[in-house]
Amino acid sequence: MSTGGVRHLYVHLPFCSSRCGYCDFVTLVGRREDHGRYVDALLAELELEGPRLTSEVETVFVGGGTPTFTEPGELRRLLAALPAAEEVSVEANPETVTPELAALLRAGGVTRVSLGAQSFDERLLGVLDRRAGPDGVRRAFYHLRDAGFDNISLDLIYGIPGQEPSGLRRDLDEALALGPEHLSCYELEAKPGTRFTHAHGEELARQAESMEGYFELVVATLIDAGYRWYETANFCRDGRRARHNLAYWLGRDYLGVGIGAVSTVGGLRWRNLPALPRYLSALARGEAPPRELEPLPALTRIQERLMLGLRLDDPLPFAEVEEAVDPAALGRLEGLGLVERRAGGLLLTRRGRFLGGGVTAELLAEIPANNYN
Ligand SMILES: C[S@@+](CC[C@H](N)C(=O)[O-])C[C@H]1O[C@@H](n2cnc3c(N)ncnc32)[C@H](O)[C@@H]1O
Ligand code: SF4
Repeated sequence: MSTGGVRHLYVHLPFCSSRCGYCDFVTLVGRREDHGRYVDALLAELELEGPRLTSEVETVFVGGGTPTFTEPGELRRLLAALPAAEEVSVEANPETVTPELAALLRAGGVTRVSLGAQSFDERLLGVLDRRAGPDGVRRAFYHLRDAGFDNISLDLIYGIPGQEPSGLRRDLDEALALGPEHLSCYELEAKPGTRFTHAHGEELARQAESMEGYFELVVATLIDAGYRWYETANFCRDGRRARHNLAYWLGRDYLGVGIGAVSTVGGLRWRNLPALPRYLSALARGEAPPRELEPLPALTRIQERLMLGLRLDDPLPFAEVEEAVDPAALGRLEGLGLVERRAGGLLLTRRGRFLGGGVTAELLAEIPANNYN
């Protein structure tokens, strides 16, 4: 029974066919024998936590890992059991997308697919340890279109060691040639402890200065092609913002199920531990899985609202975040042309958006320690 007020649901499917060297998400390689028990556990967690959801869920996001690597029968069973929603997104890796898989997603009520292309350069895809080559990415995209998907997003990564600006331009052109409704473009991050950082961390640090130019190239190219730069790393055709992610950026409550999944509801955030055996055994007993709990004081939520809201191109209502803003810093940043006020709201200027997090950090008021209690 759904009686709560939460309108957004995240479902984590952690399994991948192999681990890409740069990735530090909660993933497990292979484990086909566990997929069925894992889906049982997800459904049990959903049963336990379901009452927090409203009866009219707006968005569901099935992320990973590689959701589309999950045993097809188990993925079908999961999709059939999820609440209906206006947007149901699934993350997919190109090598897993066959006509059958695309049809399974459609029949399961999926409305949007986020395809991890990353690059269209054979050599750079190799540097990233990706399974699919450029042709595989294109084939996957066409299988999704042929199955009737009219809302497809492509993930791209830039700043891959060995990538020249001309190579990034080619990648963007290849992506645009497919005509996706949405693009997410991330600068490659060296995540601590990953194989990739061990092998290429120093090279990434050396090229850090060129990254601003790469970011500008991404933004200029996609805006020229008619996309809206609606969030720092996200671009869309009219009306095609990623509604689930938008809910995070707008500071809405969300429920997350699965290993490593995070939930934020009211004044509390919890994160399921990333341990599969304990997750399975707790839910098999009908108990909540082991979790870390973090109380969220009202001021912390306002600060998060400011940091996330300024990633968007819509003004952030000033009254909602005023308490977290340092007025002197605001005046200074307005004077520098990095922040502007429009229609009772606050937003970063184009130049401010390129500097991003640094500007937002400066805007945040120093909070006396006792305000955290
Ligand atoms: C967790 S992945 C899941 C999607 C899918 N398994 C895939 O690999 O395409 C979501 C997205 O995060 C991005 N990502 C993961 N690790 C990253 C890193 N170290 N730096 C930048 N982007 C990263 C990639 O673009 C990826 O598509
Ligand atoms: S990048 Fe995607 S496919 Fe690669 S290990 Fe991470 S979640 Fe799995």
